[in-house]
Amino acid sequence: MMIRLPGLIDIHTHLREPGATHKEDFATGTAAALAGGITTIFAMPNTQPPLIEADAFHLALDAAAQKARCDYGIYLGATADNAADLPSLADQAAGLKFYLNATYGPLLLDDVAAWRKHFEHWPVDRPIVAHAERQTLAALLFVAGLHDRAVHICHVSRAEEINLIKAAKDRGQPVTCEVAPHHLFLTTSDLPVDQDGEEEPWEGRMSVRPRLATPADQQALWDNLDVIDCFATDHAPHTLAEKDSDEPPSGFPGLETILPLLLTAVHQERLTIDDIVARMHTNPRRIFNLPEQPETWVEVDLQDEYIIQAAQTHTKCGWTPFEGWKARGRIRRVVLRGQDVFKDGQILAPPGYGNNIRAHQP
Ligand code: NCD
Ligand code: ZN
Ligand code: ZN
Ligand code: ZN
Repeated sequence: MMIRLPGLIDIHTHLREPGATHKEDFATGTAAALAGGITTIFAMPNTQPPLIEADAFHLALDAAAQKARCDYGIYLGATADNAADLPSLADQAAGLKFYLNATYGPLLLDDVAAWRKHFEHWPVDRPIVAHAERQTLAALLFVAGLHDRAVHICHVSRAEEINLIKAAKDRGQPVTCEVAPHHLFLTTSDLPVDQDGEEEPWEGRMSVRPRLATPADQQALWDNLDVIDCFATDHAPHTLAEKDSDEPPSGFPGLETILPLLLTAVHQERLTIDDIVARMHTNPRRIFNLPEQPETWVEVDLQDEYIIQAAQTHTKCGWTPFEGWKARGRIRRVVLRGQDVFKDGQILAPPGYGNNIRAHQP
């Protein structure tokens, strides 16, 4: 059976431009998005240079304008000393990113006083999104509450975190959150076999931040679907050579597997199509105040069964943590603003077809 979905929105991707285009760039990352049924992506600011001031931000905006095949927004990154300068760029930004735990890249906001400066300066009509795990999440929710500011929590992975967000929502705090497919479908049991006696298990290719969590954590995410506002890939491509090195960088590609994995869960009756549309279209549009893309849809064959293979993907990174998984539900065709942009495995949108979702705001 063929069904039509609205153009999906992925609010969390790393397209590696500027600075690491051997991993991905705007042309390949947005090709991967279209192949995955995603017509809008938001790119994260932990690039080289990081997007923490006007020059770097414009490098990224210019590259995206020339190369993106789907619509896009780009985040700015918060640092200890850029709170006063960023508001002048906010109009052009998808939102502001807080990195509050160590992860891939140099951005880490360590100082609570700096969080507060950003809450004071950043305009209320642009979301603040945060990488905030465990106790850091509790601290962030408290400080956001002091400043009466809404905050969006990236890639929630643990029971303690989803329960904390649920409690904050129940008290009326304006908090939203996303969950990444790898935390819905992989756990610590998918890590390579543990080295004996090691405190930190060797993650190898499966290194990702937040780390893969326990089966109990994963169950808590499924048990609290109503608390999860968005599904977002956290598409974080690194090459296979990098992932298989002695110091594997953290991150998984995800743009081309999120919808097949979610559709497979629909087939297994763990999820509904409406659950997907709410979390990858309606809620992202509401949270980020996005315009509707006219004449835009995704055609999916719900019956088609196949094996996920990195060899058939468009990302530059050349691997997927879901290699060999059986999927049910294939993306056949994507139409973006009246044009066929993906059909039967072929990317049809040229680089530059994508619009910046913040460029033509009323
Ligand atoms: C991300 C990356 O590679 O940029 N890595 C990751 O493990 N998720 C950074 C991040 O999202 O924290
Ligand atoms: Zn992160
Ligand atoms: Zn990320
Ligand atoms: Zn819509």
